[in-house]
Amino acid sequence: MNGRSDRAVSHNFQLNKDSFGKDFVWGISTAAYQIEGGHDAHGKGISIWDTFVFKKGNINLGQHGQDACEFYYRYKDDILLMQAMNIKDFRFSISWSRLLPLGKGKCNQAGIDFYNKVIDFCLECGITPWITLYHWDLPQDLEDKGGWTNRDILGWFEEYTTLCAKSFGDRVKHWMVLNEPVVFTGAGYFLGVHAPGRKGLKNFLPAVHHATLCQGVGGRVLKADLPRATIGTTFSCSQITPYSQRERDVKAAEKADALLNRLFIEPLLGLGYPSENLKVLNRIDKYIRPRDTEDMVFDFDFIGIQNYTREVVRHSYTVPYLQAKIVPAPKRNVKTTLMDWEVYPPSIYAMLEKFNAYKSIHKIIITENGAAFEDFLIKGEIHDVERLDYLKSYLHQVLRAKRKGLKADGYFAWTFTDNFEWAEGYFPRFGLVHVDFKTQKRIIKTSGKWFRKFLKD
Ligand code: GCO
Repeated sequence: MNGRSDRAVSHNFQLNKDSFGKDFVWGISTAAYQIEGGHDAHGKGISIWDTFVFKKGNINLGQHGQDACEFYYRYKDDILLMQAMNIKDFRFSISWSRLLPLGKGKCNQAGIDFYNKVIDFCLECGITPWITLYHWDLPQDLEDKGGWTNRDILGWFEEYTTLCAKSFGDRVKHWMVLNEPVVFTGAGYFLGVHAPGRKGLKNFLPAVHHATLCQGVGGRVLKADLPRATIGTTFSCSQITPYSQRERDVKAAEKADALLNRLFIEPLLGLGYPSENLKVLNRIDKYIRPRDTEDMVFDFDFIGIQNYTREVVRHSYTVPYLQAKIVPAPKRNVKTTLMDWEVYPPSIYAMLEKFNAYKSIHKIIITENGAAFEDFLIKGEIHDVERLDYLKSYLHQVLRAKRKGLKADGYFAWTFTDNFEWAEGYFPRFGLVHVDFKTQKRIIKTSGKWFRKFLKD
């Protein structure tokens, strides 16, 4: 089906919460470095993002997350605002260097205390906390020892996960191990456009393998220490459409799909790396040790998928290893967000189909979906109709998938408040709640008001 007919089908559905079923989880997603600020508060150590943002040219307009949304200081007000918005499930990540300033060894009690206060206040407000262990902010001291390229990270991650389980596991029943490994390894260790800014296969391939192993390390530690918790891990994913039906474009799309959508989920499921479609992945073999293939496998209670858009891919001789390149959405005369991502609601349906095809996956939760558009404050209101239309049209596709009998067990909107969007800084606003970063004033946008009513009804 082409996009237009998909859209027509989706708008026939009545969109209300009950249509998704009473067990469907509705929440909001955030990440530590993007919202907390308090970059050096009360003993917190330095993360790779604290370092990366101050290297000239890395971040749009030279911006940084040292203050961000000041969630570190404003968490009570923000959690009260979530409560007022009928949000019952709140996904946030733990800043590794807030707990272990040097990444391992001596822990920082003030960091543990902070997250305990967040968790306790969530529970007091009737909000269920969902923790992401790793959302990209590796302690700088570990990066100085090689970071994700150093196999010692398996032990470092085990120590960190154990500390989190021990500190928070009595009250936190929902966990995610990694956030989007292909993004933090690809952008951070191959392209160099995210922290820590490393480049090339020599960094990317070991980082991929060690992150794959850490999916299992984190899963096993949590499952052993918290047998009654539900444990998942998350993957970015985009529908990949070949530019044409020419064989070389179809092959290029298959390679891009292997890299962007299959690279980490398939080893986890015991299918190994997708090297039959992407030959360069055979070079990971030199990092694989005996038992690794078994240790990469872990049976998670749920898989989090994070879909925003689709990519159109064509063959290209100029791109090494991949011979494929993305045809930028702005050049395709389609509706795009501020991230230059195509607004293409059927992509979330396609990704639900794709991950449902892995029969061993028990539950699939959409742990991120949202859109960046410019917001305009008019008479104290922000009528973000484009963002609202985006959310509703993607939710229609989720409902379409459920009505086809596909697993779709929850939806977490990205994101609560406007926040630090990595290399793009603060310009791309994804929040259902607007933040004036000069005053830190929060204003619920029209999208947030719709979500509040939708969740209530
Ligand atoms: C990601 C990250 C988030 C982003 C969001 C918008 O998916 O890249 O998990 O931190 O901010 O996706 O790009």
